[in-house]
Amino acid sequence: MLQYSIISIIVVKSKYILWKILFEINKEFYEILVNLYGHKKNVIILNESAENIKEVIKKYNIKRVDYIVSGLPFISLPKEVSEKILKNTADVLKDHGKFITF
Ligand SMILES: C[S@@+](CC[C@H](N)C(=O)[O-])C[C@H]1O[C@@H](n2cnc3c(N)ncnc32)[C@H](O)[C@@H]1O
Repeated sequence: MLQYSIISIIVVKSKYILWKILFEINKEFYEILVNLYGHKKNVIILNESAENIKEVIKKYNIKRVDYIVSGLPFISLPKEVSEKILKNTADVLKDHGKFITF
């Protein structure tokens, strides 16, 4: 699932995954993701920037998240975009949540 997705938010309860939210700003990659995984239960695929992570989880009534898995190219993103994403992801992670980047 992560092949085209820049960032995934995972919310877990008692070992079960409640939500997976994927952000991909590239329209073509986003459409591939929708075709591959759009039918899956509790998977939300968004064609928007990971910068909007806070607004998005609020919309789905999620307070904090367990895991954030990211393939974002932080080195090549504008500094302010990277900083906003890193700050917002840190803000939404649970105390023992994990940020995984590859
Ligand atoms: C280098 S690719 C990594 C793809 C995937 N992680 C992999 O290893 O195959 C980076 C991806 O991040 C997406 N991307 C870049 N900035 C983004 C942002 N602010 N929010 C969401 N996706 C973004 C790009 O569209 C691109 O698909």
